[in-house]
Amino acid sequence: MPNYVHNPVLVAEVLAALKPKPGGRYVDGTVGGGGHAAALLQASAPAGWLFGCDRDDAALEAAAARLGQLAGRAELRRGNFADLADWIEAGSCDGVLFDLGVSSPQLDRPERGFSFQQDGPLDMRMDRRQPLTAAQLVREASSEDLTRIFRDLGEEPEARRLARAIESERRFRRFETTRQLAELIERMTPRRGRRVHPATRVFQALRMAVNDEIGSLRGGLEAALKILKPGGRLAVITFHSVEDRVVKAFGREHSRDYVVLGEVDVPELRAPAAPKLKWANRRAIQPRSDEVTANPRARSAQLRVMEKI
Ligand SMILES: C[S@@+](CC[C@H](N)C(=O)[O-])C[C@H]1O[C@@H](n2cnc3c(N)ncnc32)[C@H](O)[C@@H]1O
Repeated sequence: MPNYVHNPVLVAEVLAALKPKPGGRYVDGTVGGGGHAAALLQASAPAGWLFGCDRDDAALEAAAARLGQLAGRAELRRGNFADLADWIEAGSCDGVLFDLGVSSPQLDRPERGFSFQQDGPLDMRMDRRQPLTAAQLVREASSEDLTRIFRDLGEEPEARRLARAIESERRFRRFETTRQLAELIERMTPRRGRRVHPATRVFQALRMAVNDEIGSLRGGLEAALKILKPGGRLAVITFHSVEDRVVKAFGREHSRDYVVLGEVDVPELRAPAAPKLKWANRRAIQPRSDEVTANPRARSAQLRVMEKI
């Protein structure tokens, strides 16, 4: 297996947000290569505990190797962070971190099928035990469903045109590889000097659909709220506006002092309720410019932090 090298973003900011203390219990729901997890364990030495979760078996192997020296203070599991509350006791944790999206090793390995820059099977599964792949979606989803996926999850302005192009192309050939799809999108929307590759949004959207990233994120945020102690903190790093909106909506909903009884939020249909959390920072925390220079992946990262009441 090639080396699993992932350069974690906003590490100092995550530590400042979660304030690890000796003996604290922390959860990294997206343990990846173990960069944030190692920092949390070091900062909570000598007795801090870490639960590490990832859907990807290769990531977990890498995290286990990296956290080896800190063994005895960490438990790693393969699974979806949406299910954390089935594994970890309610009200028992001091901090939870979700560092969303894909890791560099997932993108860099052509056989995982996440990247339009290298040819590989059109796969994109984070958890390779699941049956649904990107190839299956591209071959079988209706043009309406593909349009919705590209528009809602990729914010692709040409969603409909690209979905229709896929539908007509697949009458003549079977989609198997990332290159086939990337080339079709390039033909349909030439780059014309744009900095971003024309397939970026479609690949992001397919990845999010294959892995049900928005459903998992909603479930993960609810699970985090359950397993945190009062005063415990939840830190979420997002990489694009679709996932950031879900985090903001969750924070807004749980930090207000009322519940909405009807379909729409109008003052007449509100009932008082105790807020479950508060924002620790009014605005999202962005990486410093030297971090962005050193790690281009940090460019679009945003950290939001909430505290359970
Ligand atoms: C950006 S990387 C995390 C890197 C990590 N913070 C580090 O320091 O190396 C995101 C990781 O989250 C995992 N992931 C994404 N969604 C997940 C989910 N719903 N449940 C569990 N793991 C998930 C991916 O497989 C990937 O390994």
